[in-house]
Amino acid sequence: MNLVLMGLPGAGKGTQAERIVEKYNIPHISTGDMFRAAIKDSTELGLQAKSFMDKGELVPDEVTIGIVRERLSQDDCSQGFLLDGFPRTVAQAEALEKILSDLDRQLQYVINIDVDKNILMDRLTGRRICKSCGATYHLVFNPPAVNDVCDRCGGELYQRADDNEETVQNRLDVNLKQTQPLLDFYEAKGYVRNINGQQDINIVFEDINKLLSTLR
Ligand code: AP5
Ligand code: ZN
Repeated sequence: MNLVLMGLPGAGKGTQAERIVEKYNIPHISTGDMFRAAIKDSTELGLQAKSFMDKGELVPDEVTIGIVRERLSQDDCSQGFLLDGFPRTVAQAEALEKILSDLDRQLQYVINIDVDKNILMDRLTGRRICKSCGATYHLVFNPPAVNDVCDRCGGELYQRADDNEETVQNRLDVNLKQTQPLLDFYEAKGYVRNINGQQDINIVFEDINKLLSTLR
């Protein structure tokens, strides 16, 4: 399965990606996660990405495209992949077409998790993530059984540096500008499948499963 998961910040990409990659056993390629790991390890890439992410701006295309090209060329992607948060601009989408054609591959679906932009501030400012396993929670919509402790692994939960109100607002503004041209690009190729992201997390996953069963 060669898939792209699209959606505004907070639409539920990471939440659904966790479930999709577990069930279908394909690598999860999240550019946001790759940048955050690089920042944690203080690498050159991390230094480049940090100033943009702290402001809620996009990391420049040439940097982002380079890391995706490298990742998709690795062996574990040969049987499929789930791209999460990439592409985010038409230039990135065009670059992805080229990368895949060089690898003799083709996208199958662009799964667009569709939500009203007005609910996203609450989703993002209430998000908590496990330090150990990366599982995503929400203080109200998907709380852990014990406050600040991961249900899966007992790890400590933390809040992402860019989930404060000011940065979230900028992330939403920046992404709203990029989303429609990107959707138009993929609509023209017939890849887009819209999923209603304003349902219970398990129902959203059921809808995605129904869609993916058509690929088997
Ligand atoms: P990235 O890490 O990709 O973040 P994002 O796109 O802003 O998306 P999020 O991870 O915030 O949201 P999500 O859709 O995964 O939501 P989640 O499932 O967690 O990017 C971060 C930054 O990196 C960017 O700002 C940019 O600087 C840089 N970057 C990354 N990729 C780039 C690229 N391609 N080009 C340039 N720069 C790039 O859910 C959110 C919350 O809602 C959670 O608490 C969850 O529990 C809850 N929730 C989820 N689903 C539901 C539901 N159905 N009902 C109720 N609550 C729900
Ligand atoms: Zn955990």
